[in-house]
Amino acid sequence: MAETILYLAPMRGFTDHIFRKTYAEHFTGLDCAVAPFIATGKNTTYKKKHIKDLWPENNPSLPVIPQILSSNAKDFTEFANFLFDSGYGAINWNLGCPFPMVARKGRGAGMLPHTETIQAFLNEVLPKIKPGLSLKLRLGWETREDILRLLPILNSFPLEELIIHARTGVQRYQGDVDLEGFQACVSASRHSLVYNGDIRTLEDFRSLSERFPGVHKWMIGRGCLTHPFLPQCIKQNRPDIENELERRKNFLEALFHGYNDVLDGPGHVLNKMKGFWQYFAPAFSGHEKTIKRIKKIRNPDEYLKLLAELFEFSEP
Ligand SMILES: Cc1cc2nc3c(=O)[nH]c(=O)nc-3n(C[C@H](O)[C@H](O)[C@H](O)COP(=O)(O)O)c2cc1C
Repeated sequence: MAETILYLAPMRGFTDHIFRKTYAEHFTGLDCAVAPFIATGKNTTYKKKHIKDLWPENNPSLPVIPQILSSNAKDFTEFANFLFDSGYGAINWNLGCPFPMVARKGRGAGMLPHTETIQAFLNEVLPKIKPGLSLKLRLGWETREDILRLLPILNSFPLEELIIHARTGVQRYQGDVDLEGFQACVSASRHSLVYNGDIRTLEDFRSLSERFPGVHKWMIGRGCLTHPFLPQCIKQNRPDIENELERRKNFLEALFHGYNDVLDGPGHVLNKMKGFWQYFAPAFSGHEKTIKRIKKIRNPDEYLKLLAELFEFSEP
């Protein structure tokens, strides 16, 4: 049986290098991460400082694949080759971002209905870029018909793999994943596929891997934030974890200190941590109350005190 490969999903605002490094110091099971997207802009001269999130020294243990958001073939090519020259042999193109500001400009998932635009983009870009290219896509903007039209065309391009988030753009991050739609992709694509969407528990993983026996690469986003032990459980095929509370607490403290070291002032650090808690809190009993308390915190000492308290009383 093929080895299970687990990817950390890109989550802009969350899975940056501080998160990835801290995560990898406390948990096991992930094989690599796709970094949150970097958008190409007009007239940008790319410099090392623009890709700080990707620097090897910031990514010591979890290999990272840069992701580009762009609908401009020339800008994309320039940035892709800059990334290659900076040491990245593989890159990912974002065809999944659902935000109206992005989609309206025909970028991200907004490009999915425009099969010919994607085809023309790849025709132009692929002969010119030095790194290998993978795509991260949704099933479509409004319907899975988009991807079903696109896949036969993608079959003729030399792509490393397709990461498919089994939702449409209009669904954003809500509503059911469309497993029939993903099955149709498995049947229609000759490329190696990575499944993504709502892997939240070991049971979810088991049922998906039974349903898609030919798929052995899986990408997890929110599930890794809420249940950071999930990749380890999947790799061990066992739900039990040793020293769970203590390891979780150590991770949360280290994450706080990691951001405290790089962000400018306690207000920014607290905002960052408060953002994370929408994903962390569901692992705690009575989590609405926890979120309310976290939201009210005004300084780092209060935050660390609340962490200590949460772990004294709760059983994630
Ligand atoms: C806050 C947030 C930010 C995201 N940022 C990105 C991004 O930069 N690039 C990308 O391809 N997908 C992004 N995604 C989508 C995730 O990578 C993933 O496809 C989605 O969350 C579904 O997987 P999950 O159910 O395992 O979380 C983002 C999702 C969320 C919730």
